[in-house]
Amino acid sequence: MTVRPQVLMISGSPRNGSHTAAVLRAGANCLVEEGADPLLWDLAAHPLPVVEAECHGRPERYGAALARKLPLLAARADAFVLASPAYHGAYSGVLKNALDHLDAGRLRGKPVALVAHGENLSAVQVCDGLRTVVRALRAVAVPEQLVTVPGDFAHPAGGGPELVAPAALDRLGDVCRALTSMACRTGRPAMAGVDRGRSPQ
Ligand SMILES: Cc1cc2nc3c(=O)[nH]c(=O)nc-3n(C[C@H](O)[C@H](O)[C@H](O)COP(=O)(O)O)c2cc1C
Repeated sequence: MTVRPQVLMISGSPRNGSHTAAVLRAGANCLVEEGADPLLWDLAAHPLPVVEAECHGRPERYGAALARKLPLLAARADAFVLASPAYHGAYSGVLKNALDHLDAGRLRGKPVALVAHGENLSAVQVCDGLRTVVRALRAVAVPEQLVTVPGDFAHPAGGGPELVAPAALDRLGDVCRALTSMACRTGRPAMAGVDRGRSPQ
């Protein structure tokens, strides 16, 4: 029996109607096509309390249910997608706070894909910074990454932003394929047979 890789996606924008979360919604569709099982944690909708150092590695000590839940989901996940808006040349504070709720024991050896959104392509700094954090958590960032800018989105009436630029969607597909492929190679043996469609380019 094969199992689908579980992918925990974390959107690091504190804003409702965020571009960052919109990219992850599109990414979740790609991951399903690739044979994975994505779960999106939007930090705007599900904010976490400020991390407490005394609870590091012991999330059961938190009073807030969300703070106990994220580490459990991370432990169960086979792979991750971390996404953030560019804030002053780096990833957002709310994403860093969420990552500080985790520890290497829950991420060690697991693949991570990185996504950034900003006013221009200098938002690549988000991915550069997150690679350092991923390494500190003993996880493995895949080389493929996606940086989006406002022109990559449509704004349908009554809805939030939607990722529509063909080049960005292609790139997102590459990122999702790379992540799923690595999860199947490095993860639980039962995932090895998952039909992942095309191989990464
Ligand atoms: C505090 C703050 C700092 C920002 N710094 C940058 C920046 O350094 N580079 C950039 O491209 N955009 C910057 N922006 C713009 C955001 O990246 C932009 O508003 C983006 O749309 C936010 O993503 P979201 O729609 O997912 O919330 C900044 C925005 C805020 C609120």
